[in-house]
Amino acid sequence: MGFKFGFEDDERDTSAAKDAFDVTAETVVPRVHDISHFLELMTGTRVSYEHIDFPGSLVRREFFDVRHQLMSEDAESDELQFLIGSTAEDVRNGVYEGGLKSWECCYDVMQRLQEVDFSGYKSFLELGCGTSLPSLLIFQSLLQRKQTHVNLILTDFNYEVLRLVSVPNLFLTWCLTSLSKEELEQLQQRPDVEGNVRDGEIDVTPELVARFKNALREQHVAISLISGSWGRQMMTQINALVQSPTLMVSSETIYSPQHLPVVAQMVSETVQHAGSLALVAAKDIYFGVGGSLTEFLACLDKKPVEYSVEKINAGLQRSLVRVHKKK
Ligand SMILES: C[S@@+](CC[C@H](N)C(=O)[O-])C[C@H]1O[C@@H](n2cnc3c(N)ncnc32)[C@H](O)[C@@H]1O
Repeated sequence: MGFKFGFEDDERDTSAAKDAFDVTAETVVPRVHDISHFLELMTGTRVSYEHIDFPGSLVRREFFDVRHQLMSEDAESDELQFLIGSTAEDVRNGVYEGGLKSWECCYDVMQRLQEVDFSGYKSFLELGCGTSLPSLLIFQSLLQRKQTHVNLILTDFNYEVLRLVSVPNLFLTWCLTSLSKEELEQLQQRPDVEGNVRDGEIDVTPELVARFKNALREQHVAISLISGSWGRQMMTQINALVQSPTLMVSSETIYSPQHLPVVAQMVSETVQHAGSLALVAAKDIYFGVGGSLTEFLACLDKKPVEYSVEKINAGLQRSLVRVHKKK
């Protein structure tokens, strides 16, 4: 069930909304994908994982494994060359936005998420998820506490990032949180293959995928993925999916001066529904790129929101912004 709020009717924000969404070309048309779409593509592959350097037991897909998959798919397109790291660029605007690796500030979001009571939220939205570590922490908690009737929405500019890391990471999280060692082994057994069950890897069998889908269904956890550019179209898709209250998280997404007003707009729209909260983590200044926290806050100042800024104690100044609807 989606929610609606009165943005189009809100005098204060209509012009700002229009501006923020109009100034940027939505270069990649956003598309909503059900998680089943990506699970189908994963079935029959092997996924190697590593433990994340964070208290708890979260894992993520190994980067070498992603490269290996891309090379075996004979990736020749420009986009895929960036994805396999054959150039020195972390980001190339409008082509690849850096989602295959985990960026520093996502750990700041995760730290703060440990203090949040997820049972107060119905929807969890991550904007610009990449490896989606904050969403993994949320998802693991939902599984452990058996919280029902919730949905997770993850967005990334690159479809390939969703396919190669975001969804595999959600799947790995479920495998290693919800199944016992014996169940996990048994669901990977193949009658025709020996030695396919190995430490640090998951053989994605149809049985394992079916069990995952079934577990999500039984717990009433819906997972949607959106690929493509931020903007009005993506916002409309998000609005059709979220339930209230929503907890929104976003890390390292305000580095581009061109796009940070759009992020501010999307944050503002998402928190309009009562009880919703957004946590946005970022470096204070993105040297050489131009985005900055100051500029992001200046955008938020024009919206019907209230926010607080927490400075994170780190070499390169980082901050965490908590945003909610103006009272
Ligand atoms: C630097 S990465 C950060 C990834 C992840 N949040 C982290 O902290 O590890 C920036 C993310 O922002 C998203 N992004 C950047 N520009 C975008 C745009 N114009 N439209 C949609 N998403 C965009 C991409 O999805 C990308 O994964």
